[in-house]
This record gives sequence, C-alpha cells and structure tokens, in this order.
Amino acid sequence: MCGIIGILGKQDVAPLLLDGLKRLEYRGYDSAGVATVYQKHLGRLRAPGKLVHLEEKLAKTPLKGNVGIGHTRWATHGAPIERNAHPQMTDKVAVVHNGIIENFAELRDELIADGCVFESDTDTEVLAHLVTREIKGGLTPVEAMRVSLKRLRGAYAVALIFEGEEDLMIAARFGPPLAIGYGKGEMFVGSDAIALAPFTNRISYLEDGDWVVLTHNSATIYNSDDLVVERDISTSSGNEFLVSKSNHRHFMHKEMFEQPEVISHTLAHYLDLGNDKINENANPIDWKNVERLSFASCGTAYYSTLVARYWFEKLCGLIVENDVASEFRYREPPMTDKTLAMFVSQSGETADTLASLRYCRAKGVKTATVVNVLESTMGREADFVLPTLAGPEIGVASTKAFTCQLSALASVVLTAAKHRGTLDRAMETKLVRQLAELPRIITDVLKLDSDIEEICRDLMTVKNILYIGRGTSYPIALEGALKLKELSYIHAEGYAAGELKHGPIALIDETMPVIVVAPHDRWFDKTVSNLQEVAARGGRIILITDKEGANAAGINSLSTIVMPDVPEFIAPIVYAVPVQLIAYHTAVLLGTDVDQPRNLAKSVTVE
Ligand code: G6P
Repeated sequence: MCGIIGILGKQDVAPLLLDGLKRLEYRGYDSAGVATVYQKHLGRLRAPGKLVHLEEKLAKTPLKGNVGIGHTRWATHGAPIERNAHPQMTDKVAVVHNGIIENFAELRDELIADGCVFESDTDTEVLAHLVTREIKGGLTPVEAMRVSLKRLRGAYAVALIFEGEEDLMIAARFGPPLAIGYGKGEMFVGSDAIALAPFTNRISYLEDGDWVVLTHNSATIYNSDDLVVERDISTSSGNEFLVSKSNHRHFMHKEMFEQPEVISHTLAHYLDLGNDKINENANPIDWKNVERLSFASCGTAYYSTLVARYWFEKLCGLIVENDVASEFRYREPPMTDKTLAMFVSQSGETADTLASLRYCRAKGVKTATVVNVLESTMGREADFVLPTLAGPEIGVASTKAFTCQLSALASVVLTAAKHRGTLDRAMETKLVRQLAELPRIITDVLKLDSDIEEICRDLMTVKNILYIGRGTSYPIALEGALKLKELSYIHAEGYAAGELKHGPIALIDETMPVIVVAPHDRWFDKTVSNLQEVAARGGRIILITDKEGANAAGINSLSTIVMPDVPEFIAPIVYAVPVQLIAYHTAVLLGTDVDQPRNLAKSVTVE
C-alpha cells in the first residue's frame, strides 16, 4: 500500500511524477504529494484526498526541478491530512515511504531527546530526521543513508532526495517492492513497472535489503551488507498498459466486461483447446509426488482457493488445506516433504501472502504461486509460477483477476488429476470442453447487467444482507458479501447455507434480504430447504439460479436472476459474475466511489 515514484529527469519532473502517481493510485488514495530539488533547494506540495487535489494545487503553483519524488498514500500512522502526507521533509531531505517502520516510536523518542521537532504523526518522519541528523553530523547523504537504514525495523520501500543535490536520489527496499527504471540520461524508481511505463521499459527490481544510489546516469546497488551488487535488467511489458476506462463509467465495469477475453487468454495458456486436452508445457509441477496441498492467500484470492479445494479433493483426491495468509504465517503449521504450498495473488506483493510463501520456502517446502503480475516478488520467489492472464486490474475490488484465478486453478486441477491418474481421457475431454465454453457463457451472463441493476434498486435502503450457498457456491457467497460490503458499505456476510440455522437465521426479518447462490446442482434441494426457512420468517430472497432451479424453487415473492445452465465444474466461475454485478450496481446507485472505495487499497504491502 502507498505508491512511490522518483525521477532524475531532463526537464521539470513534477508533471511526470503526477503521471506516475496516477498509475499507482490503486495502492492508496488518502493523500498525495511531490517534492523536488530546484536551484539546490527542496520544495514540496501535498494535498489530502485523491490525486486530483494535488493536481489542482500543482496547476496553481507549479513545482520546478529536474529531480523529484512522489507519493500516494494509504494511511497507516496518522490521519490522512496534509501534515501526514508524504513526502516527509526536513531542511536537508525529503522522503517517500511505502510500508511500516515498526520501531518508529523508540526512534522518535531518541530523536526528540536529541532536539528534533516532529511535524507529523507518521512513522516515516523518523527516517527523514535520522538521515538529517547524520548529514548535520558531517556525513555525506550516501553515508547518512547507509547508517540510517541499519536503524530501521519493519518494512519499507523508500526514496529520498537531498537539499543541495540535483543529481542524487537514494532508494531502498525491505519488504514492499521497488523497481528501478533505466532511461537515457534519466533514472527512475517506482513501486511497480506500470508506474514507470511512460518513461522506460528497462527495469530491474531491488531485492530485500538492497539500497541504490542513483544519479542521472548511474545506479549503484548495494545489498544489505553494503556490497555493490548487480541486479538483472529486464524489459517490462508494462508499456502496453494504458490507464483508460474506454467507454465504461468505471474501471470495475470495464474489467467485469473484459472477463470473457481474459479468461480465454488464461485458459489458452493451460489448455490445448484445439485438441480438448491439457497443455503439458504449462505444467511445471510434479503432481505425482504431492500428497497435501496447502493454500494461503488473502481477500478475494483466498476465496478462489476455497473453490479450488472442492475441485482438488474431488478430482485429484488430494488433501487440501486453506488458510488466510495473515493466520498461516504465524501459526507455524507443520509441513511434510510431500506438501506443495500454493499462494494465489493478483499483485504478487500482498505482505501476508508473501510472508507465508517465504515461511514455506524456509521450511524447504516447494511453493507455487498463481499470480497475475509475473514480475512481482511472489512471481520471482516461488518455485513454480502459474500465471493468470487477466492484464492490469485497476478497480480495487477484484473481478477479472478472480475469475482468471479460478480458471487457472481449474485448469491446474485437470493437469494434477491427469498426472495423478484420477482423470481419464474421456473426462479430460469433457472438462476441458466445459472450461472452453466459459468465455461464451460469461458473455451471456454479462447481458443480465441491466436486469441486475433493476434488482439492486431494492437493496439501496437495506442495512444488512446475507449471502448463502453450498458446495462451490459457498465461497462465491463469501465473495459476493465481500464485494458488496467493500463497494456499497452495506453490511453483508456470507454463510454456508447449512450454517444458517446455527445463528444467522436469528437476524432474518422482512428488512433482511438473503441472496442465495444456487445453481441447480447436487446441493440445490438442500439449499432450497434453507431458503424455505428464510421465507417462512419473512426474509426477502434474491435467488441466483438457472431455469431448472427457478422452476424447482417453488417459492413466491422472490427475485430471481436466471442464469444459463452450466455444468457443476465451471458453475462457480460463472456465478462469480452476478455477485460482482450486484455489488457494482448497488454501489453505483448509492453513489459510492466504486473504483476506489474508502479505506481500501488494491495492493496490501503491510500486514
Ligand atoms: C486487497 C484487495 C483485494 C485482494 C486482496 C489480495 O484486499 O482489495 O481485491 O483480493 O488484497 O490481494 P492479492 O493481490 O494478493 O490478490
């Protein structure tokens, strides 16, 4: 969370920093700021709220200077007000930071005792004062940084510029990612390659503990032992990325409508669709020697692993464990030789998921990541990389990344099952064909857009909503509830339908809608019994089912979203779409900020 950028350029960099920050706004959008060095002096502009406020300020008071840093914030320490916005600054140095300096309180006490005056509530300001103290003590900026970094505990990606220095920037990484961009007589740093895409596609990534001294013409990278090291420079595909909503009102809407296409790209990677079989070249894992699969992920990605569990158990006979990564990483779960640990992540940078991956690696367990950003830290550190080809996802609420995660996982399940001898050729053909139908079916589901919008008008006034489902529809109910609450701020919870009577049913009355995710599958009759229990207590029901389900439900006074008939295997991927549309339309009707909901960030690089 928080996006940082730094540029040593040939012209005034403030407008370029702003351009880069627009691409990083998905990482946080509480406040933003830039600082430059002009005629040897540091200057800074900051504004609370979205980037547009900083843009307005910069238009009124342009900031000159060829070297500068910028920041878009997701508040950790201190309210999102101007005083706490980055860059944090002294008379010697300006700092932008992504992460948390965990020992900031003790450092702050020490610095205050030394006479430093703090202006913000941030943890970041301690780094500005630490470096300043060293410079005032006679060290060069580089020496001051070397000494100060040793004092920090926690997670950071930082970039600093210095009073009097128009050809110097220093950046460091421990935890959150940091990319270096190489230009011609220009150098860049940024939280990701996308931020640097307008300027260069020659990128290298700092490793944990690395720090880098940049001038317009050089980048000298040091590792945590302060030894000069080389890091590979690669050509990033980030240049292909355009920040555009096309003709859609929101990125989220655009991304939902991209699902048929990106699912098709993802499936084409894993499957030989022309021959109705899996693509052996896309299988890096020795599935025969896996006895236990251990998943750890966060948020929507976690729900994709809950769906995958049903598939892996049924089709591969594997023992599967699912955990949220923030619990997994501290639980110290025992690991066996034959465990494969799998981490699903859109960004590949989520702090808890990354820490879980590293825990497993340290235990000698093989790791695989299902990841959208291949150059991400997880993409680089996992033993096996299983890509999702969703393309950049800008809307904070994950949509196309989720259905691509499910599509990739479903394909991987088939590969695993085939290699483990639990999937014969006939079944392989059948299930590959089912997956191949997904783009067409999802195109049809997206045609329900305006019908679903109508249904959502009834949800605008409610305070609480329950989502229920059984089998693979249970994680989709969880995902539906998460999407709704994060976008519309209506309180929503997902439950396994069978759990309803163990507590949540006490909440049901005529003010409480229950959204039932129930394709006409082997769990349908049981779910309908639960639905009857809701109806008997006056609850309002929205049933998402197919034609057969709608006919069989036999309940009046419910709203029904009638879906295409789909086989059980692919149903959760298809049923993810209406729950996305419900959340989207309810939020739009309520006028919330759909692409950037309050308090959230897309890439969560702090724990
Ligand atoms: C944040 C995002 C979610 C995402 C989760 C995990 O909470 O808002 O959309 O599911 O992080 O992110 P990852 O990048 O690891 O999939």
